[in-house]
Amino acid sequence: MKVMVVGSGGREYAIGLALKRDPKVKDIFFAPGNGATFLLGKNVDIPDYEELADFAKEEGIDLTIVGPEAPLVEGIVDIFREKGLTIFGPTQKAALLEGSKIYMKNFLKRHNIPTARYLETDSFEEASDFIDELDTPIVVKADGLCAGKGVIIASTKEEAKKETQRMLSGEAFGDAGKKVIIEEFLDGYELSVFAVSDGENYILFPAAQDHKRLLEGDKGPNTGGMGAYAPTPLIDEKLYKKIEEKIIAPTIKGMKEEGTPFEGVLFAGLMIVDKEPYVLEFNVRFGDPECEVLMPLLNTPASELFYKAATKNLKDFKVEFLDQYAVGVVLASENYPYGKSKPTEIIIDDIVHEDLALHAHICYAGVSLIEGKLFATGGRVMVCVGVGDSIEEARKYAYLLTGQVHFAGKKFRRDIAYQALQADAK
Ligand code: AMP
Ligand code: GLY
Repeated sequence: MKVMVVGSGGREYAIGLALKRDPKVKDIFFAPGNGATFLLGKNVDIPDYEELADFAKEEGIDLTIVGPEAPLVEGIVDIFREKGLTIFGPTQKAALLEGSKIYMKNFLKRHNIPTARYLETDSFEEASDFIDELDTPIVVKADGLCAGKGVIIASTKEEAKKETQRMLSGEAFGDAGKKVIIEEFLDGYELSVFAVSDGENYILFPAAQDHKRLLEGDKGPNTGGMGAYAPTPLIDEKLYKKIEEKIIAPTIKGMKEEGTPFEGVLFAGLMIVDKEPYVLEFNVRFGDPECEVLMPLLNTPASELFYKAATKNLKDFKVEFLDQYAVGVVLASENYPYGKSKPTEIIIDDIVHEDLALHAHICYAGVSLIEGKLFATGGRVMVCVGVGDSIEEARKYAYLLTGQVHFAGKKFRRDIAYQALQADAK
């Protein structure tokens, strides 16, 4: 089978690695890929989706898997399908679950799916009145896609009003903020649950926990994610069942009923308050770096799972996961997440420790190949992933690997999975 992965990050690299160990997969293409995806397949530099679909046709690609949200929200799936191609991901309409927070919140309301109390508005006055009704902190969200930055947690009502004003005026996020959601703050812990759906049936992945803040102890600004691990002991079977029954199942059913069946990865960003799950957000793709810790646990050929999901064949399909743990530590460049960083060469020590080679690997992200050498070119550079029989063991391998990688400005959190270890200790 020939498979193409759309995207260029660590998430797409992780999907590529899963495809690489799949005996059914002959060739892997990355569109556009990054400076290290040549290790797994071929990079294709065709930014226009119509032209990319033509390429997929000519090349005889059997399955395309879309990693990031932007192409999904822009309708890549619809374009590929119109040309008779098999592609895994939601249509443009279904991708609105991530593309518009207002659409998402209203969908949740229509289907009685638990979420924080909110007001959607483009009027400062209305927003202001609602802010006065709520206790602090107060959450203010821009409607559209803001590259993960469109959420402000205001500690005072004044700040909430100021941020609302900045969004509504277009100053903060341009048109993406011209409608806002004001939301009550949910005080609990966060979990991500991923379901791969064919529009009707779905497969749940083990629950993962991301670490969104830049600094240890969950301090500092929000980032795309500084590390993740799975499965997390912060969820037990009872809670998992509740999440499935109250959130995943009604969402898949509701999307189908509304004529926008959800095919792809439903990523439920949840807040657990007093053992009850609430939806914070939906994404329509795997999380990054969550994908990097989920793919190594997949013990079913990846091509089969994604192909069956893309062709409405998940019914009765059994997916196996390893009875192991994975921990992923993001190595980011100096100025992440504030701005660009100077490209710096990456040196990776030879891995002589056999156990480490067996239990750890790198998922490359923000890297470029310059004159045959690998450079860190900003953002999140790579994820060091360890796999083991316990979280401690997986974490040990992940951190051992971080010590083998060198580039100027390298930074990472040293406490990934700390909540899991605390939970285990209890
Ligand atoms: P979102 O993009 O909506 O997931 O928001 C980004 C982050 O803001 C989440 O991962 C949470 O950490 C935080 N957040 C969003 N909404 C809420 C809320 N209602 N209560 C508490 N924290 C929130
Ligand atoms: N790691 C969070 C995300 O991918 O949105």
